[in-house]
Amino acid sequence: MIREILRMGDARLLNVAAPVTDLHAPELHTLVDDMFETMHAANGAGLAAPQIGVPLRIVIFGYSDPDMRNPRYPDADPVPQTILVNPLIDALSEEEVEGWEGCLSVPGLRGVVPRYAKIRYRGVDLQGRPIDRTVDGFHARVVQHECDHLDGILYPMRVRDFARFGYTDILFPEVEDSDD
Ligand code: NI
Repeated sequence: MIREILRMGDARLLNVAAPVTDLHAPELHTLVDDMFETMHAANGAGLAAPQIGVPLRIVIFGYSDPDMRNPRYPDADPVPQTILVNPLIDALSEEEVEGWEGCLSVPGLRGVVPRYAKIRYRGVDLQGRPIDRTVDGFHARVVQHECDHLDGILYPMRVRDFARFGYTDILFPEVEDSDD
């Protein structure tokens, strides 16, 4: 079921989400199905459970087909479809890179956000199998963006240069972006 995506200004997006303690809870599977359906309907690169009003530490991102590119991020490297529960992120160096981000909770806008260039992230999937990856590039950016949602952080809070923050259709008039 496609769920309503909360938008910036909703206080529920500012909460720190709780760890998942029971991976066997049947409602978790429904929740994740709904998250994928909602993300795909909105052409998102990722989605965190708090964005649909569920205060749990679950994020999803990526694509089942590695050749598929998100129409909102056509130049991005492919990211494997991932369900990540109770994630932890370690920056592998202090190096940061800047890149444009958008967010389904902040429709119609893009901004340049600094992120760690290379990270290791860990967590489990819905079956409890460990996930442990070292990534950089767009993959690292998506994970940092989505996990920020679990701590009540939206990307505009990380924008340092508001000269590079604005409406998508003004910033990128050549990009077809009908979704937000
Ligand atoms: Ni977001």
